[in-house]
Amino acid sequence: MGPEGGLTDLAKSEEFLKTVAEELVKRPHLLKKLVEAAIGAALATDVFEVIRKRRSVRNFQDKEIPMEKILKVLDAARWAPSAKNSQPWDFIVVRDPEKKRKLAEMAPFGKFIERAPVLIVVVTDPKKSPTHIIDGACAVENMFLAAQALGLGTCWVDIFDQRRAKELLSIPEHKYILTVVPLGYPAGEPARSTRKPLEECVHLEEFGKRLANPK
Ligand SMILES: Cc1cc2nc3c(=O)[nH]c(=O)nc-3n(C[C@H](O)[C@H](O)[C@H](O)COP(=O)(O)O)c2cc1C
Repeated sequence: MGPEGGLTDLAKSEEFLKTVAEELVKRPHLLKKLVEAAIGAALATDVFEVIRKRRSVRNFQDKEIPMEKILKVLDAARWAPSAKNSQPWDFIVVRDPEKKRKLAEMAPFGKFIERAPVLIVVVTDPKKSPTHIIDGACAVENMFLAAQALGLGTCWVDIFDQRRAKELLSIPEHKYILTVVPLGYPAGEPARSTRKPLEECVHLEEFGKRLANPK
């Protein structure tokens, strides 16, 4: 195989692969690096797919979520970035039907949360960070993507009656309820959702200079 053959051709060549395998057996540190690179490439692809496939979910199956999965989603949340690494967040896992019903009452645009098997109440703390809302939103997006990767649906839902919700869940008064996220296995297809094209929101070097050949 000459150098003119592309990488794809090279990868298909049995002779080449045999040589690589023989060399890698002799150099386990290289083998480890290769495996790590392959896993990294596979994960990177998955991230884009997960981002593109996530939709706000408002209908859920009547199916329990194992605690292990809930904690996986929350683990992703806590690894979000935050200003000065302040991590001004707490997450309350609510499964009690009565509490879910009451929270749904306080969410004029989220009545459907009552039917989700789990609610994650995201609480932020203005005393810990002046940017607690932004920090919290980063954690919520991590939650959304982790849930999507686990086959779970989510939606951002605003709670309008902060005082009543804090009372219900014994949340200290100075804290802020950022959102109540329903978590559950999606039922049916989520509502269609589109995005404005790249050429409408990307500018090169200065505002108004558009991409010449947007994808
Ligand atoms: C800050 C914020 C508040 C939102 N509030 C609600 C809400 O109260 N109820 C609801 O059903 N969806 C709510 N959403 C979800 C949006 O409607 C949804 O993300 C948007 O229509 C795009 O659809 P998609 O998430 O399916 O791509 C909210 C989203 C954000 C980011």
